[in-house]
Amino acid sequence: MCGIVGYIGMQAASEILLAGLEKLEYRGYDSAGIATVGEGEIHCVRAKGKLQNLRSKLEGIENPSQIGIGHTRWATHGKPEEYNAHPHMDVAQRVAVVQNGIVENFRELRLELQQKGHEFKSDTDTEVIPHLIAEHLAHPESAAPATLASSPFLEAVRQAVNHLEGAFAIAVINADYPDELIVARQQAPLSIGFGQGEFFCASDTPALIPHTRAVLTMENGELAKLTPLGVEIYSFAGDRIKKSPRTLTWNPIVVEKQGFKHFMLKEIYEQPGVVRGCLEAYTESTWDASHDTPPVNLGLDESFYENLDRVQILACGTSWHAGLIGKYLLEQLAGIPTMVQYASEFRYAPAPVTANTLTIGVTQSGETADTLAALAMEKERRKSLKPEYQPRLLGITNRPESSLGYLVPNIIDTHAGIEIGVAATKTFVAQVMAFYALALDVAYRRQMLTLERIQEILGGLRQLPGQIELVLESQERYIEELAHEFGDTQDFIFLGRGINFPIALEGALKLKEISYIHAEGYPAGEMKHGPIALLDAKVPVVAIAMAGSVYDKVLSNAQEAKARDARLIGVTPMDDKEAAETFDDLLPVPVVDEILSPLLSVIPLQLLAYHIAARRGLDVDQPRNLAKSVTVE
Ligand code: F6R
Repeated sequence: MCGIVGYIGMQAASEILLAGLEKLEYRGYDSAGIATVGEGEIHCVRAKGKLQNLRSKLEGIENPSQIGIGHTRWATHGKPEEYNAHPHMDVAQRVAVVQNGIVENFRELRLELQQKGHEFKSDTDTEVIPHLIAEHLAHPESAAPATLASSPFLEAVRQAVNHLEGAFAIAVINADYPDELIVARQQAPLSIGFGQGEFFCASDTPALIPHTRAVLTMENGELAKLTPLGVEIYSFAGDRIKKSPRTLTWNPIVVEKQGFKHFMLKEIYEQPGVVRGCLEAYTESTWDASHDTPPVNLGLDESFYENLDRVQILACGTSWHAGLIGKYLLEQLAGIPTMVQYASEFRYAPAPVTANTLTIGVTQSGETADTLAALAMEKERRKSLKPEYQPRLLGITNRPESSLGYLVPNIIDTHAGIEIGVAATKTFVAQVMAFYALALDVAYRRQMLTLERIQEILGGLRQLPGQIELVLESQERYIEELAHEFGDTQDFIFLGRGINFPIALEGALKLKEISYIHAEGYPAGEMKHGPIALLDAKVPVVAIAMAGSVYDKVLSNAQEAKARDARLIGVTPMDDKEAAETFDDLLPVPVVDEILSPLLSVIPLQLLAYHIAARRGLDVDQPRNLAKSVTVE
């Protein structure tokens, strides 16, 4: 979703801004723009479409300005046209603003400002902000607090943001204050990067790490003044806040393609390493049933596990699918009743409050507005209740530095690192790994599994990196070839049962997201209750038939599809004669304990989606209309 960058220092700003926006491209956008201050004027250039269009417009323009802001826009209010692209300016073109989020009360503000003579040029909610700031600069509504008396521009921004409702992050420059870059955050991410005599801001850290690892994540209700001399942070009430940056341990190399054609493919190939990383982080490599120490250490306080009766998991999209596998594991291994709810549904129709309940938010970005709002709502509605109803919140994410990290007191870091491809792959596998660790941890503490069974499952998990590598090595070429056969296909059905039902959903979601082919996932046993009507020779059916309790059932369901002429593709155990006789195309994976099978069955489905989309020549890493981080409702 939208991206913000800002720079103030001693270098020419525009190239730094463009390079920063390129690092945020992965989030999804449909137009872009930058504004700089030079010779007492704001120089603003915007373009519809890809960043290359903006680059072309800027080519040949000498711009030595050392302060500027930039934006990639993902349309919410108003079409993706140049006139709606950010930065937006006030009437006199002295103030320029970029914004992420949504100003919910923009209609009222716009009307008020129009009555005061402000003319608007876009359909966006953002445009009210520069007008509002200009209005507060010209007519401050009250005397500035002592802390801000010497900073009229900062004070005007402070007064303006206090009138904004919604979730937003902004960066603002002013032609009359060429040494000040003002930023503010209210429920949309924004970080400040500290360099030597130069400072950066960005809505996501990949835009900062090429310049600095010293990063300060702003919190809700904070604004900051960046000058070449330093950074001052204030609350929206005007109180000065003392804060220091922390050092990111990231390596800039993680945001490069490293020879892969797309980030998505690179991230699919990173999955064996992700599983290894999770095992190293959560488990003791020498643990076996003879040990009297816990098999898993998630770094959570002992009190976290006390009197745990229920779990509710809140998430969206692929993270919701990881949550469904989490439910299976928590119920089947640890015996804890668990429900999984779409965060966007839960926030307006929450389940009744139950005692001793752990609420888990799962999100790869750590910034999904619906997930954060659902967790905040849960925290709020429980806080005045009796002790057993008090909020117990846990976040599962690969971005512990995100807004999620500030909202919940406990985080399981999935150690997947940043994911650039919009379609989630390695972060999904890492979220599922976190659920294995949590379920085994709780099962051990509640004595729901024998130590021998825990040892068996852990042993199986340790085999997985090698087995995923084997699937990648043995399948990719074949799947690439297979993808050629679906050039004209318009619909796909994915079937799975038990712990692999969420993988059917995930396979379908991956395919529709990046190839734009209509795809649905169903529990295999449900097909005969309706979806079977869709089947004919034009609708391929992908069935996940892993060895275990539902293997025969899935094969029977697949036969029902075959009888309707559907082309049958099976994700099956390797060297399985029955499967070879049933399916037209085989995507075999090593035979593993059924409980571990989703981590293998998902791999060929990721590759299938990837190759079908790549074969169609589509923008795999930045599919249309999608965003990596969905920061609006
Ligand atoms: C799927 C995908 C989306 C996200 C969803 C939630 O490939 O990327 O469906 O899973 O938008 O995002 P997070 O996990 O960031 O909360």
